Amino acid sequence: MDIQQFLLDLRAHGLANTIPNISDENARFLKDMIHIGGVKNLLEIGTANGYSTIHLCMALRENGGKMTSIDYSLPSYNEAVENIKQTGMDDIATLIFGNALIELPKLPKESFDMIFIDGQKKRTIDFFELSYPLLKSGGFFIIDDVIKFSEKMSSFYEFLAEKKIAHSILQIDADDGVMLIVKR
Ligand SMILES: C[S@@+](CC[C@H](N)C(=O)[O-])C[C@H]1O[C@@H](n2cnc3c(N)ncnc32)[C@H](O)[C@@H]1O
Repeated sequence: MDIQQFLLDLRAHGLANTIPNISDENARFLKDMIHIGGVKNLLEIGTANGYSTIHLCMALRENGGKMTSIDYSLPSYNEAVENIKQTGMDDIATLIFGNALIELPKLPKESFDMIFIDGQKKRTIDFFELSYPLLKSGGFFIIDDVIKFSEKMSSFYEFLAEKKIAHSILQIDADDGVMLIVKR
């Protein structure tokens, strides 16, 4: 299996079907964060067709790590299951079909060292609050699309300001950027 070619084809399919997959620059950044952070257990909110999941698994394999990813769209979930299987990442990624707002409280507390939030933007605040107890102390969040969709995330920005939660916004590509929050 040529994973790079598979990802190129999956990305082209995503573009043709308006699936908002992460950019190449973001994929590289997330992999760098997994390597730098020595991430062993990662949670992703928003699997879509599994494009980002496969990238994350590639870096996690080098770390001996694993991940869980959640999506509530059945067609997306089914597509992701097939793509994860085809790329041989099913020993690393566990996919959950369900609404993250319901599934997150069922996951073990303080078990993840990185959480990637890429679900419905206006729900970012809920994903953050519900997944905060799941993150280990010293672990970190990466939240996607925080520049382009800042208006949709206004409640999240207000929450960060009100709670005085330190956060860094990083421009990742010409289009958008991510937020980094470390749990102290
Ligand atoms: C931006 S896409 C994810 C793209 C994917 N991370 C990638 O880069 O390949 C957002 C996904 O989040 C899912 N989603 C949105 N809100 C959700 C929720 N409350 N629970 C579970 N999945 C959700 C959508 O079905 C959609 O597939």
